[in-house]
Amino acid sequence: MSVFNVPALPSYKFFNVVAVSVCASLVLALIRRIFLRGKATELVGPKNPSWLWGYTRTLLTGVSGDYFEAWQKEFGDVYRIPYPAGTSRTVFMDPRAISYVLNSNSYNYVRHKGNNAQLKTLIGGGLLTHEGDDHRRHRRSMIPGFSVASLRYFTSIFLEATSTVKDEWMSRLEAEENHGVAVLSIEQWMNAISFESIGQTGFNHDFGCLNGVLPPVGQLFTALGNSSATLGSMISLGLLQVFPFVLQLPLKRNMGMVKVRTALTDVARAFKADFGNTKEDLTDDRRSLVASIMKAENRSLSEADIIAEMNTLLIAGFETTSTTMTWCMHELSLHPKVQDKLREELRGFPEPTYEQLATEMPYLTAVVQETLRIHPIAQENHRVAAKDDSVPLLNPITTKTGKVVDHVELPAGTGIIVPIEAMNKSTLFWGPDAHEFKPERWLSELPEKASSIQGYHHLLTFIDGPR
Ligand code: HEM
Repeated sequence: MSVFNVPALPSYKFFNVVAVSVCASLVLALIRRIFLRGKATELVGPKNPSWLWGYTRTLLTGVSGDYFEAWQKEFGDVYRIPYPAGTSRTVFMDPRAISYVLNSNSYNYVRHKGNNAQLKTLIGGGLLTHEGDDHRRHRRSMIPGFSVASLRYFTSIFLEATSTVKDEWMSRLEAEENHGVAVLSIEQWMNAISFESIGQTGFNHDFGCLNGVLPPVGQLFTALGNSSATLGSMISLGLLQVFPFVLQLPLKRNMGMVKVRTALTDVARAFKADFGNTKEDLTDDRRSLVASIMKAENRSLSEADIIAEMNTLLIAGFETTSTTMTWCMHELSLHPKVQDKLREELRGFPEPTYEQLATEMPYLTAVVQETLRIHPIAQENHRVAAKDDSVPLLNPITTKTGKVVDHVELPAGTGIIVPIEAMNKSTLFWGPDAHEFKPERWLSELPEKASSIQGYHHLLTFIDGPR
């Protein structure tokens, strides 16, 4: 029996379905375009390179941050770029508008329906996929998991993980047959540290992967992360926006996520057996993010709920963290002086506490922030206006018709892009050395324009606001 329960379709029927889907999505896009045009502020922007693709192919295959930054220089802090089938996206690089969309009015700016449906099918429920009140409630129940008490306890788990890996590296270096040279795949080891840390802090599970070998479920995750954007995946993503049944097709990515869910079942069962319905106070050895959700909601979670929570943490936290740590090591390898300075600071804290890490190690903080600035995991954040809105701007703009405005009118359904990487690296905000890795910039005052960007330390790497 097929895991997808999709009846086998004769191929001609399949192509009929695809053809009807494509036509219907084009007609819908056209109607939406005509309808939206009347209400929206007329924005400037680049010419359309292709009616079929707009700029999507260019942005997917190149460094999107460079394009957004160049367009900012040409068109200003708010502009419109062409998207597939004659549609468009409004790009915000104005700090006040971004803060409004992602933070103060974020529940009006939701994920594209198709993307959320895809996430839901892949993950199940969970914080990443909820909107509105469900999201508020779920978020509240996760907050205790990020309390100082939890972070203090989690710090010891992170330190133990890194120290185990360091010992492993040293033993390889010191092995007689290696003559003081060892070739290490940093990405592989950072994956191991990240996966193990999320297992333990997320849901009290020891994956035992600090020997550098991910468990099968970890390997499924990295395979998903490595799947590149093919023409087929782009077409299916486009169709998905209108026809969620695409998620039921036996595509590589859909099948990968079914395998992940199946592989997590045993871990979820073990967690459920240990924690049943956790209502008592969480002592350190019982602390974890999923346990705090159960306690906060004062109910036991079903096996499917637990798998969804685990999936959410692994999808949101695993590769984001390991890739960021890998970039950090890469930058340190390119900047030996930074490495020396950091090592000197670290030597003063052989076993740092949470408080020391948070307040007494400024150079470590600067290196971490600079890595997060230069190498944000998500290049862009995409949203859709759920209702008509008027977005306030920090700096007035001139519209296509020559009018100067300090608000942008967005009809419901307008697609929005916040270009994270371009905002983090724009020379207009960060100065002429914005594209260079320079932790020292964090040790003195930031340029005034960079300070106007909201978000964690004026970066959009973790976006901004409640999401
Ligand atoms: C360098 C590391 C990380 C980066 C750069 C990062 C970045 C992000 C970004 C950009 C989002 C917003 C996604 C969106 O709304 O489209 C997000 C959401 C989220 N992240 Fe992270 N993340 C990191 C690590 C983690 C870790 C370690 C965890 C937990 C174990 C985590 C849990 C989450 C969750 C649960 C959400 C969903 C929040 C919501 O929708 O309300 N992240 N993260």
